[in-house]
Amino acid sequence: MPNYRGSATLRPMSDLSNKHIVLGLSGGIACYKAAELCRALVKEGATVQVVMTEAAAQFVTPVTLQALSNNPVYVSQWDSREPNNMAHINLTRHAHAMLVAPASADFMAKLLHGRADDLLSLMCLARPTETVPLLLAPAMNREMWAHPATQRNMAQLRQDGATVLGVGQGDQACGEVGDGRMLEPDELLYALTALFQPKVLQGKRVLISAGPTFEAIDPVRGITNLSSGKMGFALARAAHEAGALVQVVAGPVSLATPYGVSRTDVRSALDMHAAVMAQVEHADVFIATAAVADWRVAQVAGEKIKKGSDGLPNLDWVENPDILAGVAASTRAQSGDLYCVGFAAETQYLQAQAQAKRTRKGVPLMVGNLGPATFGQDDNALLVIDEAGVTEWPRASKLSLARQLVADIAVRISAKETP
Ligand code: C5P
Repeated sequence: MPNYRGSATLRPMSDLSNKHIVLGLSGGIACYKAAELCRALVKEGATVQVVMTEAAAQFVTPVTLQALSNNPVYVSQWDSREPNNMAHINLTRHAHAMLVAPASADFMAKLLHGRADDLLSLMCLARPTETVPLLLAPAMNREMWAHPATQRNMAQLRQDGATVLGVGQGDQACGEVGDGRMLEPDELLYALTALFQPKVLQGKRVLISAGPTFEAIDPVRGITNLSSGKMGFALARAAHEAGALVQVVAGPVSLATPYGVSRTDVRSALDMHAAVMAQVEHADVFIATAAVADWRVAQVAGEKIKKGSDGLPNLDWVENPDILAGVAASTRAQSGDLYCVGFAAETQYLQAQAQAKRTRKGVPLMVGNLGPATFGQDDNALLVIDEAGVTEWPRASKLSLARQLVADIAVRISAKETP
């Protein structure tokens, strides 16, 4: 499973406002990470009701989770704090989702059989399945994870409607190395946030080019630009949240790969061209956010060019292929099987330049933004240009604009698909 190490820039602000989350902990050393997750959920605006099994309470105390969630923690189904003594009903009826993190092998085996002899498993069984989705974040030793019984149980739980999340790989608390670590709190926060996004691109394959390119001059120098890749990565995240299978071709950027997104790293425009061409035949949507260098030097020097008495270096330049224009001219794009979107980053005459670019590149949708106002920033303002005209999208976070653009693209695609 790809990793998502959330960066502040890609983490949405208050995405879980007004969401009521039941956070369940079953027994496992990963319980200490659930404490951090609880804090992150609260920070994102959720109200959190923590429920722990007795085994979980061996690893971290209910006091810790009560302090972090700002709510009393429940461990027993006989908890007399509930006036009707029915915590399993009362605590599930207003929830928007239940997340069990960590979900131990034993706890999942229990759920599989519909057993309900402790409060948490009882709540999983008693929750209204239509309105309260159940997410499980497994955590266990690698041998337990690989055991056919665990794999069989997880397959069955998925069939029964639970979302069984993946696991991380690496050092385990027991000293062994392998699969079975619980996903990090940031990854779990992402999974929960994505759950509430509309699945407008479900099953669609989306290819995104992002970031700058770097055109080498010699082994130590080159030309590049100030694109950070943030808009492209925000779009990758938004498309994945919307249910798409997302592939990013990224120039040299220092950004974490959004959870669930596949990534190919490239350096030059020619590398990016090759990577996009190799993958675009499987795509339904191509979004070109990359700031591709227009030119490269004809001959990259094999050794560092030295300052000398011959004056300035004599460099010959050749034009790079226009990736977007090439893709937009392909048979699949022309026949409507592939929807292409371009980005124009300008410094002046944004509307006129972006409109001209849309026509010249032959794409149905061109998004204009001002280079200096977007490169490296966490927010942006857009001009969305199609055949019918121009719409201004006011300054907002890149993630929020990306979600808006994904929704917009989904509408355009479905309008094309419905004759
Ligand atoms: O660089 P330019 O302003 O022409 O970029 C407009 C659009 O074309 C962007 O979407 C960019 O990703 C794409 N492009 C490309 N290959 C190039 C140049 C630009 O795909 N060589």
